[in-house]
Amino acid sequence: PSPSLVDTFGRRHSYLRISLTERCNLRCFYCMPEEGVVLSPKPNILTDGEVVRLATLFVKSGVTKIRLTGGEPTIRKGIVDLVGRLNGLRACGLESIGLTSNGLTLHRHLEALVGNGLTHLNLSLDTLDPFKFEIMTRRMGHEAVLRSLRMALATRNLKTKMNVVVVKGLNDSEVLDFVELTREQDLSIRFIEFMPFTGNKWDKAKMVPSSELLAKISGRHPSIMKAADELNDTARSYTIPGYRGSIGFISSMSDHFCSSCNRLRLTADGQIKVCLFDAKEVSLRDQMRMGLDDADLLKTIGLAVKGKNEKHAVTQCINIARNMTSFSPRVAHVSR
Ligand code: GTP
Ligand code: 5AD
Ligand code: SF4
Repeated sequence: PSPSLVDTFGRRHSYLRISLTERCNLRCFYCMPEEGVVLSPKPNILTDGEVVRLATLFVKSGVTKIRLTGGEPTIRKGIVDLVGRLNGLRACGLESIGLTSNGLTLHRHLEALVGNGLTHLNLSLDTLDPFKFEIMTRRMGHEAVLRSLRMALATRNLKTKMNVVVVKGLNDSEVLDFVELTREQDLSIRFIEFMPFTGNKWDKAKMVPSSELLAKISGRHPSIMKAADELNDTARSYTIPGYRGSIGFISSMSDHFCSSCNRLRLTADGQIKVCLFDAKEVSLRDQMRMGLDDADLLKTIGLAVKGKNEKHAVTQCINIARNMTSFSPRVAHVSR
């Protein structure tokens, strides 16, 4: 990659997460307050042209993987065309385009998205029980998400993973049911530790450490085996002999993965963010709108990357995961 995307710890950033909107059609309690979040005024959100311009700059600097996130990215108007335009960057070295979606309206666009170049889907679904779905997301729509899931699994040329945030007393009793989904389906189920964000009612007692889940799954499936992890993967993967899919654990709280972090984020309003847990943001949108050229933008990006910390407030995180009951330095809700 260009030196601009290498930080002072030698980490090379080849993965760009682009938030396409701050809005969401669900209200998952661990992510957003009931009333939603304060939204940026529409003119502050990057236009498609601006997204493509920045994505091009990043790809030419060494980014090979783009993931579109939100809020819920599929509610952005024109997402199908935008994916098509991003797909044009394959000529400059882009290798994959991923999407993280809650699946509520995804089924309407999935075929067209894949037709335009989408290669990877991470679908968020925390429960197989429609009543619990309403409790966790504060909205209806479980059947619509299952429809998106079935569609994704039937789509060739799409690698599908499922994200399950595990919350004690809510969906932790379903872990073995999720594992069963991987028996017949080529699906990777990833169990995610509940992380604290401002106002999300985080409480250590609600967090289930991955080690506990692995012990439970191993109890039922003693033949479970460690699988190879992809470089820079957030998840540690396992397989069960005879099962088509795989199981992963994203242990952001109990075992951070900062040393292999290769991610940069672009927020919906055009700020570069070098770490999920870092409040520092630098506006590339303002610079573009002031007429700065690509070389100047790249300088700004380079400075932001050089300011990336070695790890997130991890000692605190590990402490909370181990013995504390509350945690004050939470980060504000932003693009996941
Ligand atoms: P791929 O590796 O591309 O499949 O995606 P991903 O797992 O990084 O992304 P996804 O959007 O599916 O996010 C799943 C979970 O990964 C989130 O809930 C976070 O817990 C975690 N995650 C994603 N990015 C970061 C990051 O930069 N830092 C930390 N600590 N956790 C992250
Ligand atoms: N802790 C863990 N994961 C979270 N996500 C959103 N908020 C949290 C949280 N507090 C997950 C979503 C989605 C992914 C992008 O981030 O469920 O799968
Ligand atoms: Fe929306 Fe995803 Fe947050 Fe749920 S976790 S409210 S689906 S952005």
